[in-house]
Amino acid sequence: MGDIIAPHGGTLINRVLTGEEKKDWMERAAYFPKISVSARILSDLLCIATGAFSPLTGFLGEKDYRSVLKQMRLSDGTVWSIPVTLPVPEERETEIARVDYISLINTQGQIIAVMRVEDLYRVEPGEEARSVYLTDELAHPGVAWLYRQSPLNAGGDIWLLERPEHPFQNHLYDPSETREIFHQRGWKKVVGFQTRNPIHRAHEYLQKAALETVDGLFLHPLVGQTKADDIPADVRMKSYETILEHYYPKQRVLLGVYPAAMRYAGPREAIFHALVRKNYGCSYFIVGRDHAGVGDYYGTYDAQKIFGQFSTEELGIIPLFFEHSFYCKKCGGMTSYKTCPHDSAFHVILSGTKVRKMLSEGIAPPPEFSRPEVVQVLMEGLRKKVNI
Ligand code: ADX
Repeated sequence: MGDIIAPHGGTLINRVLTGEEKKDWMERAAYFPKISVSARILSDLLCIATGAFSPLTGFLGEKDYRSVLKQMRLSDGTVWSIPVTLPVPEERETEIARVDYISLINTQGQIIAVMRVEDLYRVEPGEEARSVYLTDELAHPGVAWLYRQSPLNAGGDIWLLERPEHPFQNHLYDPSETREIFHQRGWKKVVGFQTRNPIHRAHEYLQKAALETVDGLFLHPLVGQTKADDIPADVRMKSYETILEHYYPKQRVLLGVYPAAMRYAGPREAIFHALVRKNYGCSYFIVGRDHAGVGDYYGTYDAQKIFGQFSTEELGIIPLFFEHSFYCKKCGGMTSYKTCPHDSAFHVILSGTKVRKMLSEGIAPPPEFSRPEVVQVLMEGLRKKVNI
C-alpha cells in the first residue's frame, strides 16, 4: 500500500495479541497485580494497541513524558504533543514497583491488557496543566480531569488481550483497516475531519471545500469521553448517518469513529489529532477556527499557528487551514471572513453554547446553520435523553 501515507514514526504499531500468544498471556496475566482502569484509559489503550497512536507502544515513561511537556516531542525527537499516560493508585506504589508486569482490568474486573512496568514516576498536575492546556484553572475540563487523577504514573509497553466493548462497533475501524479501505477505493489523497459536534453547515462547507481537491473524506468524529454538556455520541452518530445519507456522495466519504477522549487542549490537541489521523491513513487534516478549544482559553487561530513550529517533513500530514465560516444572507451561501465582503448583519453565526441551549429548549436552529434533517435527529435524540 505504497499509495497511502506512512504512519507517524514509520511503522504502524500493532499490539493486539491473538491465538496462542493471547492464550499464554491471558494465563500469565491472571497472576499479575490487577489495576482497574477507566473507560477513558481503555480508549487510549485501544488507540495504542491498534496503532492509532503510533509510534507509541505503551504509556509514556518519565523521559518521554518530560520531553512531551517541554518540547512537544518524544525523547527521540519525534513530534508528539499530548502526554498519553497511565495514572495508578498511590497506595499500590510498593506493589507495582516490585513487579515486571501488571494487568489492566475494566471496571467489571475483566482483564483487557498487560503492561510491562518500565517506569513509575510522579507528576505535578499544575505543571502538566500549564504546559498542555496553557492554564491550570479547574474550570478547564482537561485540567479538571488531570487534577482528579493520581499523580503517580506507570510507564511501559502494553499488549491488548481483549478488545474493550465499543458502542459503535459498526463504525470502529483500526488504522490498518482504514488504510486498506482507502487503498481499495483508490484514494491517494484523503482528508481527515475531527469533530466532537454534530455536522453543521460550516463543517460541511470545510469538508466539501477540501474534498474538491482530494480523493476522499474520512469523517472521524471523536466518540470517547467528552464534557457533560457536549452532545452525546449516540445522538451525534445518528446525525452523522443522516447528513451523509442526504448530502454527501457515498463513494467519497468514510464514516469512522475515533475512540479516544477529548482533551480540550486546543493547539496541542490539533497537532495530536493530525498525527493520529495520519496513522489512519489521511494525508490532509482540516483545522478550522478554535480547533479542540473550550471557552476562551485559546485564540481563534492558535491551533493553526502551532503547526508553524514543525517542519512539513516531521509532521508528514498536511494541515488544511480554514477561516471562521458561516452562512451569509447577502452571498446566499456558505462563506468565511476571508471570502465574504458583506457586513456581519448578514451573517448567521451561532455559538455552540447557544445552539445546545436552543436544542434543549426545543427550538430549531435555522437551516442556514444546520441541515433540517440533522436538527430533527438532534431534537429527537436530546428529547429522549431528557425523558429517560
Ligand atoms: S473539535 O473537536 O475541534 O472541538 P468542532 O466540532 O468544534 O470539534 O470542530 C471541528 C473542526 O471544524 C475543527 O477543525 C474546527 O476548527 C472546525 N470548525 C468548527 N466550526 C467552524 C466554523 N464555523 N468555521 C471554521 N471552522 C470551524
